[in-house]
Amino acid sequence: MPNEDEMVVTPWEVRGRVDYEKLIREFGTQPITEELLEQLKKHLGELHLQLRRRLFFSHRDLDLILQLYEQGKKFTLYTGRGPSGHVHVGHLVPWIFTKYLQDNFDTRLYFQMTDDEKFVIEENLELRETKEFAYENALDLIALGFKPENTFIIFDVQDIGLLYDIALEVSKRVTFSTARAVFGFQDSTNIGWIFWPAIQAVPCFIHSKLTGENVPSLIPAAIDQDPYWRVTRDVAQKLGYFKPAQIHCRFVPGLGKGGKMSASEPETCIFTTDTPHDIKTKIWNAFTGGRPTVKEQRKLGGEPDICTVYQYFLYLFEDNDDKLAERQGDCRTGRIVCGDCKAVLTERVTEFLLDHQRKRERARDTVEDFFITR
Ligand code: TRP
Repeated sequence: MPNEDEMVVTPWEVRGRVDYEKLIREFGTQPITEELLEQLKKHLGELHLQLRRRLFFSHRDLDLILQLYEQGKKFTLYTGRGPSGHVHVGHLVPWIFTKYLQDNFDTRLYFQMTDDEKFVIEENLELRETKEFAYENALDLIALGFKPENTFIIFDVQDIGLLYDIALEVSKRVTFSTARAVFGFQDSTNIGWIFWPAIQAVPCFIHSKLTGENVPSLIPAAIDQDPYWRVTRDVAQKLGYFKPAQIHCRFVPGLGKGGKMSASEPETCIFTTDTPHDIKTKIWNAFTGGRPTVKEQRKLGGEPDICTVYQYFLYLFEDNDDKLAERQGDCRTGRIVCGDCKAVLTERVTEFLLDHQRKRERARDTVEDFFITR
């Protein structure tokens, strides 16, 4: 019998109770230490809540990136999105963080929309649909305030001509046996999927092709993407590039019990396109750390650690640490009950998304300024 709590973390599947310490050991990444946070403070000033709360918790070579930066060597940022549907709030978390890094380090961002990946991997998606979602998802990115001067969105299918030579160089140096071991490919895996990781490697190196400047790239992303970078790091130096560095975040939990926010369970994740009514319904149906009755909860208190509503405050919707601690304490002692938190969260999410949706619509007029082939 498969254990439903057993942790599975691959680029295609996140299941079970995620043990982040164990992931650091299994993936062979480094924890973000106090010392590294201190070093980051020199450049970032006040630490973003995602660093203070260790939502970004692991890295590869971030120390090296900082060391080079302090010696005057810049870096580029790279992140991306598999456009298999509309963006949900969980996706925005690393993008907001990326913007914070970009603003403070004054770097370029390369953002990859993998309409090709989602087409070869997802049985039920047509190319027309993934291309359409790529365009729609780009609006969400732009709505966060990125600027065209230093933000370059790659639409894989449209921009393949730009990517293909580097992808070929990468693909020639990754054997099937490595790819199978890293990604778990099977005999039944289609060959589009097997080649595909070469394409995800390309934006790590594209800056050099575009500008002639060879600088390292830093990738903020959820840790499930790490397998791609393991392979990319192995070939980077053979191709004359820096190994790409990473800073890894946790998965934003969905509103259901356990697991990450997943678009395949639409009732448990809040899409950026949701209406105030959808938002309210989803939050009111969320899994919380509450007791069966209000009376019991007043007496025994709730459990914020397992509460999805609390996690939303933690990840995005309460940036004041004291207020967050107060909410946690008030929950534990039964001073507040789930309805109180749900009401506040509904209000904050609604306000945030109404504003986001306005900016998102405006982005239709500027999206082309962000195309890497502009
Ligand atoms: N493979 C990612 C996904 O399915 C998309 C992606 C491409 C990405 N390049 C990236 C994500 C770089 C993070 C960082 O979502």
